[in-house]
Amino acid sequence: MNLAGINFVENNVFPLTNLPIYQASLEFSPNFFEQFSPTHDGFGNLKSTSNKRKNEFIAGRLCVKQAFINMGVHPKPIPVTADGAPLWPEEIVGSISHTNNFAFSALARKKEISGLGIDTEAWIDKKRIKNVVEFVATKKETNWLKRQTLSKKIKLFTLLFSAKESVYKYFYSLTKTSIDFEDLEITIEENPANQFRFKLLKNLSVEFSKGYEGTGWYEHDLHRVYTLTL
Ligand SMILES: CC(C)(COP(=O)(O)OP(=O)(O)OC[C@H]1O[C@@H](n2cnc3c(N)ncnc32)[C@H](O)[C@@H]1OP(=O)(O)O)[C@@H](O)C(=O)NCCC(=O)NCCS
Repeated sequence: MNLAGINFVENNVFPLTNLPIYQASLEFSPNFFEQFSPTHDGFGNLKSTSNKRKNEFIAGRLCVKQAFINMGVHPKPIPVTADGAPLWPEEIVGSISHTNNFAFSALARKKEISGLGIDTEAWIDKKRIKNVVEFVATKKETNWLKRQTLSKKIKLFTLLFSAKESVYKYFYSLTKTSIDFEDLEITIEENPANQFRFKLLKNLSVEFSKGYEGTGWYEHDLHRVYTLTL
């Protein structure tokens, strides 16, 4: 069943993880928010923000609703906490991301998946890579990127950036602690499994100490990249 009147993207962003993750995504127009009344969930907090922000917030929350429906659970409102992170029900883990005219959400049951972070990014162009690479990539990652051709560099840098954001959301949801780009090292594995590895370069908590390693997944298409960390 789909939420009435909303055209969600039909296929799951991550079809191949074989894990009980419930996803929904949506492409929206520049005036998307206008079709929702000011009493719509969360809309009240958005009154003085830009149209772009209204669009992405509403589209993200609609994706959450649809992901709940896909899970077979009655949709629940997801408030925003003081730090900007979504407040999920006790038994649920979830994540939201948006970029340009696209929003995406993924949910899972906590008893099956302990933590979850997703991210989507429009392709980052050569000029922006040049401007931000020193803030995003570690020395090792920078040296690896330098060895790539230009088209590969665009692909791998956008994936690296998105991977760090999804790992950030994963760790934040579990520890309520922020990390910086320099605290993570990402290795993109260019194989059919579309996986990346991440390594924590500082102590975050007793469970997540310096050297902790984990796996994430990535996908990409003409418009953007998508990453998922569990
Ligand atoms: C919070 C942050 C991760 C969001 O990522 P982004 O790529 O800018 O934006 P996205 O569209 O992908 O994600 C936005 C959504 O993330 C969620 N979010 C916000 N803060 C969050 C947090 N601390 N933890 C988990 N999710 C969070 C929200 O649902 C938000 O959407 P909403 O406001 O509509 O509900 C990012 O802006 C940020 O502040 N990062 C902290 C510093 C950083 O970048 N560190 C390096 C990464 S290692």
